[in-house]
Amino acid sequence: MKTYKIASIPADGIGPEVISAGLQALEALSRRDGGFALEVTEFDWSSERYKRTGALMPEDGRDQLKAFDAIFFGAVGAPDVPDHVTLWGLRLPICQGFDQYANVRPTKILPGISSPLAGVGAGDLDWVIVRENSEGEYSGHGGRAHKGLPEEVGTEVAIFTRVGVTRIMRYAFALAQSRPRKLLTVVTKSNAQRFGMVMWDEIAAEVSKEFPDVTWDKMLVDAMTVRMVKNPKSLDTIVATNLHADILSDLAGALAGSLGVAPTGNIDPEKRYPSMFEPIHGSAFDITGKGIANPVATFWTASQMLEHLGEKDAADRLMRAVEKVCADGILTPDVGGEATTQQVTDAVCDAIRGEN
Ligand code: NAI
Ligand code: MG
Repeated sequence: MKTYKIASIPADGIGPEVISAGLQALEALSRRDGGFALEVTEFDWSSERYKRTGALMPEDGRDQLKAFDAIFFGAVGAPDVPDHVTLWGLRLPICQGFDQYANVRPTKILPGISSPLAGVGAGDLDWVIVRENSEGEYSGHGGRAHKGLPEEVGTEVAIFTRVGVTRIMRYAFALAQSRPRKLLTVVTKSNAQRFGMVMWDEIAAEVSKEFPDVTWDKMLVDAMTVRMVKNPKSLDTIVATNLHADILSDLAGALAGSLGVAPTGNIDPEKRYPSMFEPIHGSAFDITGKGIANPVATFWTASQMLEHLGEKDAADRLMRAVEKVCADGILTPDVGGEATTQQVTDAVCDAIRGEN
């Protein structure tokens, strides 16, 4: 039997609530299938740790994580710590240090969950957004000069490299090729941004030649928001820069019913390092401790994690259980229900155990 070593980093806010739910579902799956076991090690890296010690994670944090097969991450962010400190203190050092360059964000309308879009239901919106996750607008390149003086300057430089763009395009084209519709939309802003974004478009066209069976088109990011709302059926796989995809995938989550159902995998496709799986949402201070955080995004990302580890059957079983529970109307308040996090989790675990 295979044993996978999972590093769990619940971190802040509702992070611990949804990670606990996810681990319960994973446990039910491993018992049910018997084909694999999970050895979970929990790390207390968080804003609390920052307030106590001055750092969200220890200096050798990444070295500690290297030995794991995957990382299961909650959310980071606290009301009394600036967001750039928490993000750059924990999540980004892991994503960037482990070169998890493909951020994969599936979105679909699950049965029983309604989209805010009129007339759009399950089956009408089934997308995977591939976000470039290692460079672009979030490369950390820039600085501030003359701090506090009237002539102060702040720069935030987007970095696009041929290596970085080529590898994310290949990943996105290959993913599109693996899906039934073989359809890819490349998001860009090459009308206003004449350098990096023009290179992005050129490389997309070059890489497309390696995938002659994939139909692809190009959309300016502003027009893309309109297409996502007006014609969701016309989209399937989507690739965009770090910033563009960050924004578009929140929109995608909202269109699919709630941020609480949207998952993401930060993937090192070459498997040199552990990949990291997390819900898209943040620490949601407004509902922390109330027991009503939607665990569906975390179940879905757990399914992505199982698939990445090679446990496709268990990954599919988990999603079937989630879809059944949603269809049965066992939903948290963000998607119109009255169930608690634990009630949804129990129902998903029951569905896993009860499936023939
Ligand atoms: P958020 O995602 O935490 O919350 C936005 C809204 O969605 C809130 O009304 C919240 O209650 C709701 N929501 C989010 N997840 C939910 C769930 N599972 N179930 C039910 N409702 C849910 O975003 P916000 O408020 O902008 O950020 C709060 C903190 O989280 C900030 O410190 C921010 O920096 C951090 N953050 C961290 C992320 C991460 O760790 N990957 C991602 C996004 C934000
Ligand atoms: Mg975001």
